[in-house]
Amino acid sequence: HKLTVAIDGPSGSGKSSVSKEAARRLDAAYLDTGAMYRAVTWHALDAGTDLTDADAVAAAVVAADLFISTDPDVEKVTIHGTDVTQAIREPFVSEAVSAVATNLAARKELVARQRTIIAAHPRIVAEGRDITTVVAPDASARILLTASEEARLRRRGLQLGGTQSAAELQAQVLARDAKDSTVVNFQVASDGVATVDSSELDFEQTVVTVLEA
Ligand code: CDP
Repeated sequence: HKLTVAIDGPSGSGKSSVSKEAARRLDAAYLDTGAMYRAVTWHALDAGTDLTDADAVAAAVVAADLFISTDPDVEKVTIHGTDVTQAIREPFVSEAVSAVATNLAARKELVARQRTIIAAHPRIVAEGRDITTVVAPDASARILLTASEEARLRRRGLQLGGTQSAAELQAQVLARDAKDSTVVNFQVASDGVATVDSSELDFEQTVVTVLEA
């Protein structure tokens, strides 16, 4: 029967790498919903869409020709035919993404597309900020992956390759989490959602704990 694993968590909780590895071990597909928010943000910036114009942002998201790989071993995101797999990880996208994430019409559109992708796969691990609560509240397993602020900032620093100063990085990550928190609850586990705190766990321990949850 169908297996859906929903994983939410803040920036630097290790959600993406852990979810991807969990998908491999479960022989399941993998959906990075954050990459979808990032891709439509990249496109809005590229097209010169006014990010302060909520209707324009929503229209751009509804019209977006978006493709995302669901193979945990193939990272690929395209929008209107342009491969943005690498570009969506750039800091300028991270800084702008809340314009899309806080737009309710844009969220509604992306949530619908995420549900379609999840429905198309008999086995899938989907991760983001609102998967356990909004996208797939009926998932077979629902996990909130948390970590202390210190651990999250440390991991983020490693992921960006140490190019940004620690203070700058800290301010950016915390500002993005604060903005995200205004629209989605990913700080406190909802009823029936298991919390896994990865602060004191290494990667392997976190994957195993998630698979057991
Ligand atoms: O880089 P990080 O892991 O923090 O975030 P991400 O998973 O790449 O998601 C980027 C941004 O997309 C988040 O900061 C949220 O604003 C937004 N997002 C969301 O609103 N809902 C989701 N289900 C996934 C991401």
